[in-house]
Amino acid sequence: MPDATLELTHKLPAELDRRAFFTKIGLGSLSIAAAGTIVFSYEYLSPNVLYEPSAIVNVGKPENFAVNSVTMDVNSGIYLVRAEEGYFALSAVCTHLGCLTAWNQDLGIIACPCHGSKFTRTGEKIEGPAPKPLPWLKTWVDDEGDLMVDRSTDIPSLQYLRI
Ligand code: FES
Repeated sequence: MPDATLELTHKLPAELDRRAFFTKIGLGSLSIAAAGTIVFSYEYLSPNVLYEPSAIVNVGKPENFAVNSVTMDVNSGIYLVRAEEGYFALSAVCTHLGCLTAWNQDLGIIACPCHGSKFTRTGEKIEGPAPKPLPWLKTWVDDEGDLMVDRSTDIPSLQYLRI
């Protein structure tokens, strides 16, 4: 006849091991869930900021631009025009759907390659689907004598910068 006490003490360590095993699994799962919550909370609370280049562009010395020249700065998407009346800057971004326009020296016009809008060198629309002229941009000379353009500030057209 088997001894009941001996049998009970014999099973006890195995049950404790199983209990301890599941406790460790449970605590491990909670730790992983807590770590995930902390990471996602940090991502949610930290500012989601896009750093864009400055709207202010230094286009260089005024004397670098010949009279009656149209110079495009592809990187900043602007034209710097030196006319008889003075300097001005135009946005090179088409007012239709935002394509980058191009200066055509032979025809003396600014043309959009996407849907055929055409503009004079002062930004007035000649033809095409563009709803508005190309905007004139705020232009000034800084303390070092460089021409500066603010791409974020439109000004009324025909306001030449005279130096
Ligand atoms: S984007 Fe220039 S004409 Fe359409």
